Amino acid sequence: MAGVNGDRKGKKDDNGIGTAIDFMLSNAKLVLGVGGAAMLGIATLAVKRMYDRTISAPTSPTKMQQMGKRSWEEPAWVGSSPRVLNPDMKSTVSRSLQSLPTTSCSFEPDCLRRAVGRSAVGGSGATRSSLMQARMRLSLQEHLWDFYQTRVNIPAEEQAVARRAALDICAELRVFLHAKLPDMPLREMYLSGSLYDDLQVVTADHAQLMVPLVLEKNLWSSIPGEDTIMNIPGFWLVRRENLEYFPRSSSYWDRCMVGGYLSPKSVLEVFDKLVAGSINWPAIGSVLDYIIRPVVPSETLTLEVQYETDRRLYVDFLPLLVMEDGTSLIAKPHRLAAERHENLWRQSFRVAETARLRALDQEDGGCRYACLKAAKAACKLNPALHRLNSSQLTNAILLLSEKEGNWTREALADRFLQLLRALVGHLEAGRLPCALNPKVNLFCELTEQEVDELGYTLYCALSDPEQLLRTAAEPIQSGPAGGGMSMPMNPDRQMDTPI
Ligand SMILES: *[C@@H]1O[C@H](CO)[C@@H](O)[C@H](O)[C@H]1NC(C)=O
Ligand SMILES: *[C@@H]1O[C@H](CO)[C@@H](O)[C@H](O)[C@H]1NC(C)=O
Repeated sequence: MAGVNGDRKGKKDDNGIGTAIDFMLSNAKLVLGVGGAAMLGIATLAVKRMYDRTISAPTSPTKMQQMGKRSWEEPAWVGSSPRVLNPDMKSTVSRSLQSLPTTSCSFEPDCLRRAVGRSAVGGSGATRSSLMQARMRLSLQEHLWDFYQTRVNIPAEEQAVARRAALDICAELRVFLHAKLPDMPLREMYLSGSLYDDLQVVTADHAQLMVPLVLEKNLWSSIPGEDTIMNIPGFWLVRRENLEYFPRSSSYWDRCMVGGYLSPKSVLEVFDKLVAGSINWPAIGSVLDYIIRPVVPSETLTLEVQYETDRRLYVDFLPLLVMEDGTSLIAKPHRLAAERHENLWRQSFRVAETARLRALDQEDGGCRYACLKAAKAACKLNPALHRLNSSQLTNAILLLSEKEGNWTREALADRFLQLLRALVGHLEAGRLPCALNPKVNLFCELTEQEVDELGYTLYCALSDPEQLLRTAAEPIQSGPAGGGMSMPMNPDRQMDTPI
């Protein structure tokens, strides 16, 4: 039985976690060099996790109780029978490590030249392993394109039906709001999101309904998050100005003012009362032949539209401010510490970042879009990766494009691996800068535990990327134990940065 060492007194240290970590770290230092140093923490964590899992899969109920009482600082294996990493785990870790130089070498010409030079001069070992790795990449390349065709891309007809449903809902809401609140200053609502720019993957299941508010220029001003005490780039405050000349209720939106600022939460509440509270959705649904219901609880205002027996579309209703300089702010709350951040509007980069990605592909006929969609699908199909969303993946690819010029279709597998590796590096650093505004950290709303889980899962995927391409029915084997993971209610919708 792997995982349990019967020999009580014998080679405790040889088999213990300390040795495994030492073994792994010394290997890692050898093969990663300086550039890979950022990955060591995640790699260490990977070993720790595997170890924890062997511990938490006890052989008897008595053991389990024993384990349950012990704290993290006092691991169960201290003083009791030592457990080893089972061979599977060991090989996952060492495979991860071995695969790293390959991926880095194929991207950095200097490193590649050195590697080639070395193998030409020296042992056949390097040649053999690089041949093997080339073979592995070839099949990953084939699998990726196959995955792309069969799982990632959504049939045009399915997309059309989903768009139709979204449009019907949009039309109903437009009529309702105009009739009910004729003086509410809004611009035309419109639909947006990945369903409209060929970036939705796996199933056509979400769209955003953008609701632009009209703000009087002289009454409201926007303050970037980095200039506030919260110091969060990427979020903004919208301050009410000139109250002494234009007293409260000079602006329609004064009713949503909290402490002198326009509160996205309060704006959402106004719409929530209407959209979720006073529209007769069952009646509208029966006319349109859908089942429509507001999703509760939801961090934003969301309608679930069941448009075929087995098809559901989630439509996010998103109030939007477009400032004078073109900055788009959406009423999508900050995930963490909600109270302190209640007045913050989120800047949306979606339009600009998607356009940049598309433009780069058009310049060189590249596969960035395909790479993004494959990565999005992998995240959508693997629960452990649900926390990564479209915006983060798009920006990771944009950053990669600054360093890497070869995005030909033949390079998809290489770029995909490079993306995984880059993400692990960003997670390790706790920071993913937005390509359009490097001050913005796109990981700032992840908890430490989420960073660990994501890093660990992606790290393991480096040695076996194909596990990410397996279907949703098969959970990834080396994924985290799942105990501490909290699943968002509609994880799919996490995938898109609105607008
Ligand atoms: C781009 O990458 C692919 C696959 O790695 C390779 O076959 C091709 O030769 C590269 N093209 C250029 C111009 O470097
Ligand atoms: C992207 O995902 C992160 C982590 O789950 C989340 O905090 C963030 O709000 C998401 N971004 C958008 C724009 O939805």
